[in-house]
Amino acid sequence: MTVPPQLIDRLKSAQRVVVLTGAGVSAESGVPTFRDAQTGLWSKFNPEELATPRAFRRNPRLVWEWYEYRRKLVAEAKPNPAHTALAEMERLFPEFHLVTQNIDGLHQRAGSRNVVELHGNITRTKCFDEGTIVSNWTETGDVPPKCPNCGGLLRPDVVWFEEPMPEKETALAFRFGTNCDLFFSIGTSAVVFPAASLPFEALESGATVVEINLQSTPLTSKAHFVLAGPAGSVVPDLLKSLRI
Ligand code: APR
Repeated sequence: MTVPPQLIDRLKSAQRVVVLTGAGVSAESGVPTFRDAQTGLWSKFNPEELATPRAFRRNPRLVWEWYEYRRKLVAEAKPNPAHTALAEMERLFPEFHLVTQNIDGLHQRAGSRNVVELHGNITRTKCFDEGTIVSNWTETGDVPPKCPNCGGLLRPDVVWFEEPMPEKETALAFRFGTNCDLFFSIGTSAVVFPAASLPFEALESGATVVEINLQSTPLTSKAHFVLAGPAGSVVPDLLKSLRI
């Protein structure tokens, strides 16, 4: 992908860079995007029917098993060149923040340090009743397992539909997004709020906004630069253009 020269200039002069990533950044690692059709046993379920507190209360075993299935997918997945390039980019700017909607932890595994996880992380588990993170519990064969502290059910530490966003992470994301000079929206359909409003807030606050996606989204017509292509090759091309 040839990076437009005006974008290269913006990259070279940028002081504060913010990147928002979505499921499209992990697609080339083999992690299905949130709106990819579910496969196999899970094909008859719509993720939005499983990823809710109501679904968990109605059928905790089913929801826990769906996340166990996705945790295995993520554990087998490897960071792809988009993750690696973003981890390298972090070190090239005076200020760089990565805000992700992804729950797969692949950015951290690729070496990114400044990661704001808006929707939690599938590799972390918490107590459904207390909300506290639980890192180990006695396997008693219960599915889901029980909280060692209160005996309540354990659940993944991810943000479900109909649940509030994590306050600290959301505040950070909007503080960074409205105080940057260059904002990238990468691999996100930009339809789920409040994350989807971040690129528009960045635009409002005068940042140069770049979208990297395979398809167009509600942001496409507003972004200053639109790089249509797979993140796994476009992001490394951006990094290369910085090095010239
Ligand atoms: N490179 C770049 N973009 C890609 C690639 C790729 N290789 N593959 C897919 N995409 C794009 C798709 O075109 C789509 O716009 O990634 C986007 C994925 O969109 P979604 O599946 O809607 O995922 P996301 O935007 O992260 O969803 C946001 O909504 O459903 C909730 O909590 C869930 O975090 C998720 C949030």
